[in-house]
Amino acid sequence: MAKKLHIKTYGCQMNVYDSDRMADVLAPLGYSASDNATDADMVIINTCHIREKAAEKVFSELGRLRKWKEGQRLQGRDVKIAVAGCVAQAEGQEISRRAPWVDVVVGPQAYHRLPELITDIDPASRNAVIDTDFPVEDKFDFLPEEHTPRGPAAFLSVQEGCDKFCTFCVVPYTRGAEFSRPAASILTEARRLVDNGSVELSLLGQNVNAWAGEAPDGRDWDFARLLRELAEIDGLKRLRYTTSHPKDMTLDLIHAHAEIPQLMPYLHLPVQAGSDRILDAMNRHHSRDDYFRIIDQLRDVCPDMALSGDFIVGFPGETDRDFADTLNLIDRVGYASAYSFKYSPRPGTPASMRDDQVDEGVKSERLAGLQQLINAQQLAFNKAKVGDVMDVLIERPANKDNQKAGRSPWMQAVHFPATTGEIGDIVSLRITDAHQNSLSAEMV
Ligand code: SAH
Ligand code: SF4
Ligand code: F3S
Repeated sequence: MAKKLHIKTYGCQMNVYDSDRMADVLAPLGYSASDNATDADMVIINTCHIREKAAEKVFSELGRLRKWKEGQRLQGRDVKIAVAGCVAQAEGQEISRRAPWVDVVVGPQAYHRLPELITDIDPASRNAVIDTDFPVEDKFDFLPEEHTPRGPAAFLSVQEGCDKFCTFCVVPYTRGAEFSRPAASILTEARRLVDNGSVELSLLGQNVNAWAGEAPDGRDWDFARLLRELAEIDGLKRLRYTTSHPKDMTLDLIHAHAEIPQLMPYLHLPVQAGSDRILDAMNRHHSRDDYFRIIDQLRDVCPDMALSGDFIVGFPGETDRDFADTLNLIDRVGYASAYSFKYSPRPGTPASMRDDQVDEGVKSERLAGLQQLINAQQLAFNKAKVGDVMDVLIERPANKDNQKAGRSPWMQAVHFPATTGEIGDIVSLRITDAHQNSLSAEMV
């Protein structure tokens, strides 16, 4: 019987990818994806544990779902609730205890087993079926082909987990050890995505540029080589990758930006902080000058390279002077966009145990100052494109009537009249106006 599956996704792009893959895994059981939670037969919340509020949101979402499940039961409908992702991994038992109406808890490396887990649900039990193993088998070997096309711009996870252990971060605990998918498996999936209509691929990994994997001939490839091979796929017009760690930004990879035409001139390269003292305390394995050197090299080979980053303010022990170094780094680099966060102490991480935590008020003030600077840079970057003609990949109808939305090579959202081209086309548009988070454009 046809059943409806609603997945709500929090967190990073890897979770977006995983949500689509969970839908693929459940399709053979008769589940089809639905945007509507109310009439669903099963709701999965795919969670993120990176900052405090993320986990809180999960528990309030679960509170709402409890009411929904009870309401459905009164109407004679037996609906299921599953929690996936990084909160599931970190707090599986806690979820089962605090929210006994949850049926399944599954971690990011075990969701290929969802069909068995669902079969194991015992309606009489107050405990969820929990699978938060880091299985020895590679989940990618067990995932079925995509059930539905992914659209013009698709995500493709190539690397999972992290061994870097930045002192603030939960990812090494929630996603497990660093693992690179073999190239053959990546190339097969990439070709399939392109055959099904995707023209842009974004390769994903917590440290995507640390990818080092087995080549189809059994030898070893590095990430730059993987990009070169992917670029050979007929019909693949754009390639991106995220998130990169500065330490793994090799010269070969930097040069790939000059040599691979499909590689877009945009790089998300988080630095987190601009002071060497804080970078060291964060265990980032590079200095401020190392970061500048990489940016210079990138701009040498690719002068129009747009940069994006992540910043944390108020890391334990961060002084006004350290923070000034961060602002100064931002000034020197010039970002096209960036994400910034107040430091959030995460259970089990070394930085959370330090006794020199920064006052919340100070964190808020620093965040506001940093965001003001980034916003000004972003607006200036966008404004500089007005009058230019550029290639835009048409991705979807826009929220506004009679508009379509797409992406510039530099990751900017672009809005233009709906009469322009078809979804999946790359069209040449003239930029007519620039805003904080988007561009307006018209046909040339
Ligand atoms: N692997 C990526 C980042 C993954 S997490 C990298 O190394 O760059 C995404 C972002 O969340 C991080 O870059 C960081 O800026 C932020 N983040 C991670 N842990 C955090 C914490 N405890 N408090 C605040 N922000 C955090
Ligand atoms: Fe977290 Fe650091 Fe690993 Fe990024 S590199 S996922 S910030 S531990
Ligand atoms: Fe969040 Fe897990 Fe991604 S903690 S950022 S969903 S890897």
